Amino acid sequence: MRNYCIWNYILVSIFLLLRIGNVDGIQIWGMQFGRAPLLEKFTWKKMDFAYPDERSRQLAIASGEYVPENSLPVGIEIWRNKLFVTIPRWRDGIPSTLNYIPLDANQGRSPKLIPYPNWVQNKAGDCGNGLTTVYRIHVDVCDRLWVLDTGTIGIDETTVQVCPYTLNVFDLTTDKLLRQYRLRSEDINQNTFIANIAIDLGKGGCNDAFAYMSDELGYGLIVYSWQQNTSWRITHSYFMPDPLTGDYNIGGLNFQWGTEGIFGMSLSPILADGYRTLFFHPLSSYREFAVSTRILRDQQLSQNSYHEFQVLSSRGPLSHCTASVMDENGLQFFNLIDQNAIGCWNSMLPYAPINQAIVARHDEALIFPADIKVKRGLLWIMSDRMPIFLLSSLNYTDVNFRILTMPVQTAIAGTVCDNILWRFTKNQIW
Ligand SMILES: *[C@@H]1O[C@H](CO)[C@@H](O)[C@H](O)[C@H]1NC(C)=O
Ligand SMILES: *[C@@H]1O[C@H](CO)[C@@H](O)[C@H](O)[C@H]1NC(C)=O
Repeated sequence: MRNYCIWNYILVSIFLLLRIGNVDGIQIWGMQFGRAPLLEKFTWKKMDFAYPDERSRQLAIASGEYVPENSLPVGIEIWRNKLFVTIPRWRDGIPSTLNYIPLDANQGRSPKLIPYPNWVQNKAGDCGNGLTTVYRIHVDVCDRLWVLDTGTIGIDETTVQVCPYTLNVFDLTTDKLLRQYRLRSEDINQNTFIANIAIDLGKGGCNDAFAYMSDELGYGLIVYSWQQNTSWRITHSYFMPDPLTGDYNIGGLNFQWGTEGIFGMSLSPILADGYRTLFFHPLSSYREFAVSTRILRDQQLSQNSYHEFQVLSSRGPLSHCTASVMDENGLQFFNLIDQNAIGCWNSMLPYAPINQAIVARHDEALIFPADIKVKRGLLWIMSDRMPIFLLSSLNYTDVNFRILTMPVQTAIAGTVCDNILWRFTKNQIW
């Protein structure tokens, strides 16, 4: 009887969800975990680009400039009416690496990507003029878009460095390039691979800005000072992977990513001492680490800073994490790629599994959550099935790429992250 009731409830729920899907074209995924509805905002089988007309699109396909199966989105960002989507040039036929979708126009559920700021500035190999490969990007409160171009074409053994690593900062209000800075040769090494960037705005306003770039395979952190227009490299053994956590099972595949070091980063609000805390984790690791930006921002201090870095507790098994983000209240969200899930941690509480919760999990919609952002009270999540793309092959009659949203407040409701003390008090100690 009891089982029957549960099944009846489940069937009715599925029916209701399907009805919602049919009525307004928006699908709400039934959650396996957590209470908030996860809204599937955009989905794609293959990524497509907004060519001026169908003829130029067909010409691009014929010439190999655009190969629809080869685009894998890896990064998102949101600014006003633009949702940015980045696509690295891992394979041939990626016409543009930095793109956006207008959020104020109804483009359907699989909108075509528009190159940002335009096609010309997305030309591969046109060093100094065009972007070659862009991973994760960041918008700051001064309406600037921070974009690190790795200058590479290919992935792993096929990688060719066609342009130098270059930081580009766009003014989103004019779409003009405000600043372009090539990383110094001392900032990188022969293994360098940088896919993540964090932006630290201090108390001094828009000019008091630093960029932190994590060198995943070269095991370093590169700091760029906007004011000084210069950069330096920091090394630390905490940037290295944990050799015991290099095995992964994702999307039905088993594989080893044993060399993946420092990856996702998130910044706390400004603390009582006037500085933020940078949280970071190697990709092949279950641990989070932390360091004050007081150390990172000072080239001198950062060079001999071993003991300034803190080790936080392990998240426990199956907790490889790609991107993470912290909001202005000190609430951190992080992608749990082994669990097809998103986790949360309220930084008022010590970093420990007991103080963390899963806010969303879905074994189809969240296969490899690659990026996450918090904007306008919403969590924005992108999943892209990356390991299947890299190690096997995607099924292009199925949905492969998704951008999902979820209200922050309902995501954390009833979890340990929804602590009544969670309003930020500026004196945390982790
Ligand atoms: C920053 O430094 C680079 C050289 O590393 C130079 O090309 C560029 O013009 C400088 N930008 C500013 C705004 O000073
Ligand atoms: C590919 O995806 C479609 C749509 O979900 C499905 O019907 C089909 O069985 C899949 N093909 C394979 C080989 O898995």
